Amino acid sequence: MDIRVLEIADLPYVQQTNLTNLPENYFLKYYLYHAISWPLLSYVAVDISRPPKSPYDPPRIVGYVLAKMEEEPTDGIPHGHITSLSVMRTHRRLGLAETLMRSSQRAMVESHGGQYVSLHVRKSNTAALHLYKDRLGFKIDKIESKYYADGEDAYGMKMDLEFIR
Ligand code: ACO
Repeated sequence: MDIRVLEIADLPYVQQTNLTNLPENYFLKYYLYHAISWPLLSYVAVDISRPPKSPYDPPRIVGYVLAKMEEEPTDGIPHGHITSLSVMRTHRRLGLAETLMRSSQRAMVESHGGQYVSLHVRKSNTAALHLYKDRLGFKIDKIESKYYADGEDAYGMKMDLEFIR
């Protein structure tokens, strides 16, 4: 498995992975905006177990983290935000999400001076909550009522990035 920075050519495949794994989806131009504005913050996991048959073979994207810096932080503190994270069912519990998240967090600190990272997650998303709280060390900052289109609440979570500096 190769974990590397997201490239523009990956975007349609990342979008497809997102559509497969999550109900929160985005126009391609939003992915492009991330890749152009913060080119070092988003990562992909690529299955390289079988060699490509031709140079035109698409990359086998099996996971991604799409991340950005908050453009106008209300608290005045530079910080990153995880827009979306997912890993294909066939490749879960291999540590890919954790590695994708840690890679992005490091780049937030080293490239943008990020002091913390934030995200939203469904209250019912047990797997992601385990990853964020127990594995990575995020804390619940607030509950955002009816944050999602179907009316589910979100936890707004934050993680201090001091330990990387
Ligand atoms: N149940 C309980 N804990 C879990 C689970 C699970 N199903 N999956 C991961 N974890 C926790 C565990 O602590 C795990 O460590 P362990 O395997 O040693 O016990 C740790 O997270 C690390 O797991 P990874 O292998 O790195 O996680 P994975 O690559 O499987 O991806 C993810 C986790 C991204 C949540 C995956 O299940 C997924 O894609 N789910 C659907 C999409 C999704 O919910 N994305 C997050 C939405 S929130 C957002 O995008 C900001």
